[in-house]
Order: sequence, then C-alpha cells, then structure tokens
Amino acid sequence: MTVQLKVLQELPSDLDRNCLPFHVAVIMDGNGRWAKHRGLPRIMGHQRGVDTLKDLLRCCRDWGIPALTAYAFSTENWGRPLEEVEFLMTLFERVLRRELKEMMTENVKIRFVGNLSALPVSLQEEIERSMDETKNNTGTQFTVATNYGGRQEIIQACREIATLVQQGKINPEDINESLFEHHLYTSGIPHPDLLIRTSGEMRLSNFLLWQMAYAEIYVTHTLWPDFDRKHFHLALQAYQKRDRRFGKI
Ligand code: IPE
Ligand code: IPE
Ligand code: MG
Repeated sequence: MTVQLKVLQELPSDLDRNCLPFHVAVIMDGNGRWAKHRGLPRIMGHQRGVDTLKDLLRCCRDWGIPALTAYAFSTENWGRPLEEVEFLMTLFERVLRRELKEMMTENVKIRFVGNLSALPVSLQEEIERSMDETKNNTGTQFTVATNYGGRQEIIQACREIATLVQQGKINPEDINESLFEHHLYTSGIPHPDLLIRTSGEMRLSNFLLWQMAYAEIYVTHTLWPDFDRKHFHLALQAYQKRDRRFGKI
C-alpha cells in the first residue's frame, strides 16, 4: 500500500509527460449514492467527496497538470431538499476556511465561477478572501464552479455584450468568439482538454457548455468519493489514446 502510494506521487511511467491535458474538469457525481450504499445520509458522501477533491488537486500538482476545474454546485442543485443545500453551503465555507493556509503553502490559485451573488453572504466573504489571498500564486489554477449553470453563463455574457452595443461602445460586427469568451465567468482560463464524470452518467448537466466544445469526455462508473489516483491514472491513459482532430483529418 505504502509502496503504491509512493509510486503514484510521481507521474506513472506509462504516461507521456508531453501529452498531458493542460486543463482537467471534473463533474464530481455520485456522492449521494456512495452514502446510500453504506446506509449513511447523503451528506456523508459530500463530506467524503471533499477528501477526493483535495487529493486530486494535489495529484495535479504532483503530475504536472496546471489547471483543474471542479463542479461543486449547479444552478439546478437548489432544487434539492433544503437541509442538503444548507449542508453543502456550510461545507463549502468550512472547507475554504480550513484549507486556505494549505492552498497558500501549495501555491494554489483558487477562483470561483458561477452566480456567486446568490450564495450566502458568509460564504461569499470566504470566497472573496480565498481568491484575493491566492491571486498571486503561480501553481495549480484551481477553479470551483459554484451556483454555476452553463446556460446562465451564456445568457449573462449576452446581456453584457448587448449593453455594450446599446451604449454604442461596440458594433454587432465586433462580436466574435474572443469577445464572447471575455464575458464568460471563465474568462482567461483555457478550455478543458479532459472532462471526467464519475458515477456513470453520460451527460454534461449544464457544465461549461461553451468551453467543452472540444473536450475529451471520460466517464467512469466509480462514485466520486471512491475516485482516487489509480482512477485518475486510468482517465489519463484513456486521454492519451484519443486522437484529437478538432474537425481536421
Ligand atoms: C454530486 O453528487 C455532488 C453535488 C451535486 C453537490 P450527488 O449528490 O449528485 O450524488 P448522486 O448523484 O445523488 O449519487
Ligand atoms: C452535476 O451533478 C452537478 C454537480 C456535480 C455539482 P447532478 O447530480 O446535479 O446532475 P444530474 O442531476 O445527475 O444531471
Ligand atoms: Mg448526482
């Protein structure tokens, strides 16, 4: 066990260092089912899911993957029972407060994307603080999508651009992909190369709709709290076998 963990601290030798994804995005799904299988309340799955994310972030650093984005809460997740939603909001706040120091020592730059103004004020404050304190860090670029919806993001960008046109600051002909990207929450973050979804569901669930245009999609049946470096290794192996053509031949 110890030997295996030690080996996995370094990039597995069968992976090509020059062909790693720059940016990995994850849909962390299956927390509820993980808990249910154990006869535990769903929230225990969320709690365990935090450890998985922490290790994946560290793994990205260890293996030389510069950017990681995690889907933590969707605009549709408000439709869950109030006590689960409240637990998640409190969990996010608690984890952020607890992990900030370590993110500083590990040189992580954290950024949140989504409609943050609708989150509880105390969580917003913690988010602001973590983004501000880590803004000059140069290590892993860690993005957390919270109260995030891809459709909402696109509509919000359209509104901003329409306002610029209305104010006469730009002409409709000036609207192109690069200008549009500039108005997305993820402005400045390169598009994901690899999307991993756990728990076997074959859907995007409103995640990074624009940005995912050419992402390689990898779905595993493993539930998020069980997803570890061995599973990440498998995902990267699969990624390295893909032929990314981007529409060419
Ligand atoms: C993903 O796990 C975590 C969040 C959406 C916050 P789920 O809570 O969706 O777990 P399942 O899909 O019900 O098992
Ligand atoms: C996607 O998972 C959202 C997050 C992981 C935060 P869901 O569990 O909400 O997605 P659906 O309902 O299976 O599509
Ligand atoms: Mg789910």
